[in-house]
Amino acid sequence: MTSPRALTPLDRLLVEAQRALGTTLGVARAERPNPAGRLRDPALDAEDVRHAAGLMRVNHTGEVCAQALYVGQAAVARDDATRAQLLAAAQEETDHLAWCADRLRELDSRPSLLNPLWYAGSYAIGVAAGLRGDGWNLGFVVETERQVEAHLDEHLASLPAGDARSRAILGTMKVDEARHADHAVAAGARLLPRPVAAAMAMASKVMKTVAYRI
Ligand SMILES: [Fe+2]
Ligand SMILES: [Fe+2]
Repeated sequence: MTSPRALTPLDRLLVEAQRALGTTLGVARAERPNPAGRLRDPALDAEDVRHAAGLMRVNHTGEVCAQALYVGQAAVARDDATRAQLLAAAQEETDHLAWCADRLRELDSRPSLLNPLWYAGSYAIGVAAGLRGDGWNLGFVVETERQVEAHLDEHLASLPAGDARSRAILGTMKVDEARHADHAVAAGARLLPRPVAAAMAMASKVMKTVAYRI
């Protein structure tokens, strides 16, 4: 039996590129069943469908960003346990990504055309955070998940009243994101400086505004 060959930098680059393509092109496959299950597809008027699709496109892009952030952080994490936790978090976000993509299809819409750009930007932010050390890495996870949780509350309030399927997906995502944050706190996350958290909130506001439309 031959022993596995260590990954060269080119191998790693190709693995990362393949992961980026899989994430941004929306071919993610969920491991858990879609929370919308057999809920009846509601009768939504054209304006409701347009708005729900805009919101679900934002959520899909948010999951693309979360994956890129965690994979970028994992690429430079110093501690193996931290790296494993970051990659596990990225894996769990794959369910969210797949569910949002499913709902976009049901609404006869599509993911953001700018997802490759959002992925690249988030990956760069993840690497920058990771280079500052593992406490920061986990702090980023906590801040990201808390901001996503608050944002999901806004979307749950903003979804058309009849859109039970999107609501079921976002409700499950919210529970998952809270758990991701709690795990990172338990693993020793440090609190990020307030300007960093504010910059993250600003960046996600830009993403949300653009991804709703494009
Ligand atoms: Fe998520
Ligand atoms: Fe999460």
